[in-house]
Amino acid sequence: MNFIQPVDCDDELSVEEILERSIHLIDIDGFYEIIQMRRDVRNEFIGGPMDQSKLKRILRAAHQAPSVGMTQPWDFILVDDDAIRIDFRDHVLVERSKFSDRLIGEAQETFNPIKIEGIMESAIGIVVTYDPSRGGSAILGRNTIDETGLYSVCLAIENLWLAATAEGYGVGWVSFYQESFLCDLVGIPSPLRPIAWLCLGPISTLMEVPDLERFNWRGRRPLEEALFQNRYGERLKLDL
Ligand SMILES: Cc1cc2nc3c(=O)[nH]c(=O)nc-3n(C[C@H](O)[C@H](O)[C@H](O)COP(=O)(O)O)c2cc1C
Repeated sequence: MNFIQPVDCDDELSVEEILERSIHLIDIDGFYEIIQMRRDVRNEFIGGPMDQSKLKRILRAAHQAPSVGMTQPWDFILVDDDAIRIDFRDHVLVERSKFSDRLIGEAQETFNPIKIEGIMESAIGIVVTYDPSRGGSAILGRNTIDETGLYSVCLAIENLWLAATAEGYGVGWVSFYQESFLCDLVGIPSPLRPIAWLCLGPISTLMEVPDLERFNWRGRRPLEEALFQNRYGERLKLDL
């Protein structure tokens, strides 16, 4: 195993410096606003082209995500080939109709008008992959929980999603696919797995309310329902 020698870097930021920097670089309300504004986009893509410097910043943000044992187990395949996108879109639509067929009565009626992808309408697709072998067999932090590698990839995706929102672009996560199909389509070797096809690009608008809520599929839970104190199930008594 290759152990990297510790580098001599004394650069640290004091809490005061961090606060001073964040106040200068971003306004803190703006930061939370980006988080609130982020949406899963399907209907609002207007196609390319994309600003290359924005795209680079978005990808760099994804690559700066935390990862278990510093494995950075992600890769990003940028798909701009229409033939690949058409094949993927057709596969996704088949999987969509299989899901629809499994729904009964009112659930099917509610689901049918919901668009679940913007593969052709977005500027590009980004396939995010997970390499479980990266970092070897002794990964610091993955010894008891194997999925921490997967969690790391999801954090990279969230960074990408928020950065794209800040840049004025939309992102839509597509997961209606068979992994083996996508591996064959874009040449993902074993043991890597595709974790997401992300539709990315310029948009006309960002909806304030998530599509699934607007179409009465499922609404958001209030924060209070997700908060406990000391033990699962015991309501928070702290006055927040
Ligand atoms: C792991 C994951 C998979 C998803 N797959 C799809 C999908 O295949 N199609 C789709 O339209 N949205 C997909 N979404 C988006 C969710 O539906 C969306 O995040 C959720 O409804 C909340 O809406 P918001 O992201 O706009 O807040 C996925 C989201 C996640 C996190």
